[in-house]
Amino acid sequence: MRILLTGSTGQVGNALLRQLQGLGTIIAPGRDQLDLSQPKLVRQAIRDLQPDLILNPAAYTAVDKAENEPDLANAINAESPAVMAEEAKKSGCILIHYSTDYVFSGSKQDDSGNWVPYKEQDATHPVNVYGQSKLSGEQAILQSGCRHLIFRTSWVYSLFGKNFLLTMLRLANERPELKVVNDQWGAPTSADWLAQTTLDIVRQIQQAEKPGEWWAQHQGLYHVTPAGKTSWCGFTEEIITQASQRQMLLKDAPNILGIPSSDYPTPARRPHNSLLDTAKLTQHFSIQTPTWQAVLDSCLTSNSVRNQ
Ligand SMILES: NC(=O)c1ccc[n+]([C@@H]2O[C@H](COP(=O)([O-])OP(=O)(O)OC[C@H]3O[C@@H](n4cnc5c(N)ncnc54)[C@H](OP(=O)(O)O)[C@@H]3O)[C@@H](O)[C@H]2O)c1
Repeated sequence: MRILLTGSTGQVGNALLRQLQGLGTIIAPGRDQLDLSQPKLVRQAIRDLQPDLILNPAAYTAVDKAENEPDLANAINAESPAVMAEEAKKSGCILIHYSTDYVFSGSKQDDSGNWVPYKEQDATHPVNVYGQSKLSGEQAILQSGCRHLIFRTSWVYSLFGKNFLLTMLRLANERPELKVVNDQWGAPTSADWLAQTTLDIVRQIQQAEKPGEWWAQHQGLYHVTPAGKTSWCGFTEEIITQASQRQMLLKDAPNILGIPSSDYPTPARRPHNSLLDTAKLTQHFSIQTPTWQAVLDSCLTSNSVRNQ
């Protein structure tokens, strides 16, 4: 199998690159070789490379910056994925694409005012440019008719790159007190767990005895996050607890203070509710989602193992 992997310098792409070894011939061009802001070049590259599977975790992910660069965000997050889908439809190639909780407004509640996880079929309504560009990408793929899976995930972190986990570990070693937003809810997702889940599903695709039937049953959108919910503040508390247990902090654990989003203004609005219902993932692929705390534990354990 020839696998075209985009974004291998990013969190999810890097985790995929490490975990895909042995699955086939992996082609992982960097941005200088395959620039997703140039959809025409993406089309030609796919025609030249003739992949059997495209894994597309590459994205314009600078949520705040996107407010001032909507055209660029749209080219990378919507136009290039649309081209990938068109080419996949023509060649019979499979497209696995990643999307985000930010396609939703984040206001879904039950009658008692509790945040309720979004299901795949719930109405979308992005509240920022990034979310709109990712939604447009999803829609183009869904409409293309190519063999595709779209994995919506949330709050991605890893021991690699720029992310909330590494920022909090750094700040915990620098400051006696951390003020963290406590009114946005979600499920933190490690890039490694997302890659492992992807790999599990790719193996199921490979093992399908009747591919036509498999795709008729499984093609489409899935929510892929660990189980449970927390706020950014709760996530920080767990990071500090688990890091302290592993002697990853250089000094005493900082005091953590929860603050409302209104005390931490950002150029792009964020949804309050980022919770994604993963029942469809379990139903279709028999994947039991671990708790977000267990996923964080695995991530930090892999760091301890690497440092031994
Ligand atoms: N991060 C999150 O919290 C989060 C939450 C929900 C969903 N997601 C989705 O999950 C997926 C993976 O996210 P991530 O956290 O792994 O992202 P990331 O760490 O920001 O990595 C993004 C990747 O995309 C590449 N890229 C950006 N612009 C490009 C261009 N013009 N041409 C080619 N490559 C380009 C980057 O390359 P360079 O290294 O050259 O910049 C990098 O490899 C994305 O679809 C994202 O929308 C992420």
